[in-house]
Amino acid sequence: MPDIKQITAKEWAEQRVFVDKIRTYFSMHKRNNTPLACVRTFGCQQNVSDSERIKGMLSEMGFGFTESPDDADFILFNTCAVREHAVDRVFGNVGALKAIKTRYPDTLIAVCGCMVQQKHVAKRLKEHFPFVGLVFGTHVVHQFPELVWQSLQSRSQHTVTPDMDGVIVEDFPVVRDGTFKAFVPIMYGCNNFCTYCIVPHVRGRERSRDPERILREIGDLVQAGYKDITLVGQNVNSYGKGEAHGIDFPELLRRADEIEGDFLLRFMTSHPKDATKRLFDTIAQSRKISHHFHLPVQSGSDRILKEMNRRYTREQYLSLVSYARQVIPDISFTSDIIVGFPGETREDFEETLSLVKEVGFTSLFTFIYSPRVGTPAASMPDPVDKAEKTAWLQELTALQQEISGERLSKLIGTTHRVLIEREAEGYLEARLSENSVVRVEGQPELIGSYAEVEITAARSWIIEGKIHSVEPK
Ligand code: SAH
Ligand code: SF4
Ligand code: F3S
Repeated sequence: MPDIKQITAKEWAEQRVFVDKIRTYFSMHKRNNTPLACVRTFGCQQNVSDSERIKGMLSEMGFGFTESPDDADFILFNTCAVREHAVDRVFGNVGALKAIKTRYPDTLIAVCGCMVQQKHVAKRLKEHFPFVGLVFGTHVVHQFPELVWQSLQSRSQHTVTPDMDGVIVEDFPVVRDGTFKAFVPIMYGCNNFCTYCIVPHVRGRERSRDPERILREIGDLVQAGYKDITLVGQNVNSYGKGEAHGIDFPELLRRADEIEGDFLLRFMTSHPKDATKRLFDTIAQSRKISHHFHLPVQSGSDRILKEMNRRYTREQYLSLVSYARQVIPDISFTSDIIVGFPGETREDFEETLSLVKEVGFTSLFTFIYSPRVGTPAASMPDPVDKAEKTAWLQELTALQQEISGERLSKLIGTTHRVLIEREAEGYLEARLSENSVVRVEGQPELIGSYAEVEITAARSWIIEGKIHSVEPK
């Protein structure tokens, strides 16, 4: 276990000195009545959660928020490093900010998150984008006010990406992105070191939050009207490992399920090597836990799973799925798959296709393998070319589309209780408990309400429905 340091109210009080200085500074260097911040988040829920804390601190500094970098006095990008594509996107977006900085030289631009926690990327940013005022890694989010203040005082780019590890941040202000959907981090970091993955290198060692604090946070969210709560971590199934309190993930879920109120409890992400029968039993006995399970398999070939250091076999994965379906007949599975891992052959890929057929996932996230600097897979021989990998990926997506289509057409005529989540392209959208999105007609005031919806049509991944009745909010 790393030496875990809880960063709590005491550290926040120390940061407040800088919060006050920054508020005064921006009250004099602003373009609008209220100074505005634009926070863009790339990557997974870990980053979304960090951004919610950063926004909490920005709000204490007197900032309002805007979606448009052009209007902002402070622009912050929270970045992801999981695939090269994610990194390229950030570089493209940061490059585009130069014009804003030229037009409004007082604008402060900051880049943080997983991408810049890698020293070679932080260096590249410094060389190519000197107009970025502040660069900071994942381990120092709680020092944000201090870092901003230092950057305002220094003339050149201020970069802080220490290798320190084992931090859990509590008691800091939070501005949540949603009003009825919330994400609650339960653990940070990852110890699994899958050979392709950068996350353990940029997020540090696994560490779990105190269960009482998590349960209190969920309780408070439910009291405040949140109806859809997702517990997040890179490997939620290993929650509590090595902790003296003895509360593991199924026990945490059981206790969360007992919290009073009408809400849906979800979690992500699970690792098959740590998902146990007891976990599925807990879901089967629960009232509030979603019957959708995201269980990344990555590959259907035992040989590749071994090379990936996933520490389970195809058989073990399939038997978990089969046990889950025995105790939760309507459970639905989604998964992540990497195509073209170094050394993967056509035969290995066919094993993946056959596993996908056998499980019958609701949907899949599919990725072409992307080499990450510093990971073992990046130096493995990789003879299959990009064009072939792309063709495999298309074959896999076509197969999944067929499976999804069949699954969805069986839903026609069924009725579901759903939470209306948002408006998109003139329709309202809600998520079925098996995780597919259904579109219905209705007024935006219904967002945040539960409704009875009948499925009327299903085309590839768009499902249409009609509202039968709506419950009062
Ligand atoms: N902790 C989660 C998710 C990690 S990142 C898990 O263990 O499943 C999300 C997904 O990105 C992974 O499941 C994997 O499918 C994909 N991924 C990670 N590293 C990758 C890489 N180097 N190239 C392509 N896909 C990758
Ligand atoms: Fe990456 Fe594997 Fe950890 Fe997931 S479990 S974050 S894929 S190392
Ligand atoms: Fe990306 Fe970091 Fe998440 S690398 S996937 S944002 S933990």
